[in-house]
Amino acid sequence: MVDGKRTLLIVGGGIAAFKSLDLVRRLRERGATVRGVLTAGGAQFVTPLSLSALTEDKVYQDLFSLTDEAEMGHIELSRSADLIVVAPATADLMAKMATGSASDLASTLLLATDTDVLIAPAMNVRMWEHPATVANLATLRARGVAVVGPNEGPMACGEFGFGRMAEPLEIVAAIEGYFGAADGPLKGRRALVTSGPTHEPIDPVRYIANRSSGKQGHAIAAALAGLGAETTLVTGPTHEPNPAGVRVIRIETARQMLAACLAGLPTDVAICAAAVADWRVASAAEQKLKKDGGALPALTLTENPDILATLAGRENDRPALVIGFAAETENVVEHAAAKRARKGCDWIVANDVSPDTGTFGGDGNTVHLVTAEQVEDWPPLSKVEVGQRLARRIADHFAA
Ligand SMILES: Cc1cc2nc3c(=O)[nH]c(=O)nc-3n(C[C@H](O)[C@H](O)[C@H](O)COP(=O)(O)O)c2cc1C
Repeated sequence: MVDGKRTLLIVGGGIAAFKSLDLVRRLRERGATVRGVLTAGGAQFVTPLSLSALTEDKVYQDLFSLTDEAEMGHIELSRSADLIVVAPATADLMAKMATGSASDLASTLLLATDTDVLIAPAMNVRMWEHPATVANLATLRARGVAVVGPNEGPMACGEFGFGRMAEPLEIVAAIEGYFGAADGPLKGRRALVTSGPTHEPIDPVRYIANRSSGKQGHAIAAALAGLGAETTLVTGPTHEPNPAGVRVIRIETARQMLAACLAGLPTDVAICAAAVADWRVASAAEQKLKKDGGALPALTLTENPDILATLAGRENDRPALVIGFAAETENVVEHAAAKRARKGCDWIVANDVSPDTGTFGGDGNTVHLVTAEQVEDWPPLSKVEVGQRLARRIADHFAA
């Protein structure tokens, strides 16, 4: 997907800059060319020599370099790439981009370009959550800047939260997604994916939920977008970052998820990977339930709508391919085959979610693809790989 593509990598002044050196390596081994721009801040963290050695090219740092202007002017540099990648995108660089500042080479390039831009933000969690950064991010997204990450986790500063730059391979996947969308096998197709758990309120502060992380559904959406599908992801509450190039609709309850899915029709393929709560509290309390020493509250449950069966049973706008997930803890394939028939969907991806498999919340998944004709046993894979293999399988299905 990136073979022969020209990327301009702007390395900002964040502690994650060292990961951008690995990003260069990963892109180049896939056949992309990388031209490096180092900000003054970036040069505090990685040397121009490292970036130059890895890109096997000159590194651009100075807006007012007479030599650079004679060789390749900053305007020409800004248009010399198929995609501009900013990694790490510091709070400062994002602010400059949002306000249209052109005070150094990187910000001037970003203002002077009409090439698409992908940013991989990286910063301390408080900087990330500051209203200024939140507003800058919204501005950039609204202008069509693609964003990958940041991830949640421990930070170099000792704190924990969102702000870790996406890993080099995640950034590569987002870049592949960008280029794949331009000429991938699912170009012209629409895809709808559900992901994560749903939260069913008990009262204004309590809810029923499950352990779904959303990792599998998000990976599928990213992979479909990577093959060129116009992808909508309807997701319950998760800590997963929005996949690049995907329209994300955040909901909380099963009924909201159904409404968002129906609003997403028509679509060519629907993949229901969310762990939708089977039940909700029949009438959630409007005020917080009090622990007053009296009788324990009795929660009467009622069934939630069946999103998979609803999509599979649509008369006029049924997606051509409806795929469900079966999370089982025993007789995985038999239960999945029965579920496929019961729900009226085309394929079921069956996975074993027994606690000792670590599937819920983990990064790996061992699945079986159950169709009307056969059962395919896939080897243990990462959730990202399951997403990519499923997306490829969907593309083959439509091509056949
Ligand atoms: C040790 C250290 C680590 C830093 N890490 C980050 C970071 O991860 N993200 C960030 O936005 N700013 C970080 N900063 C602050 C930026 O370096 C500073 O805002 C700088 O002006 C950004 O430069 P840039 O515009 O070249 O990105 C850090 C500063 C120091 C001293």
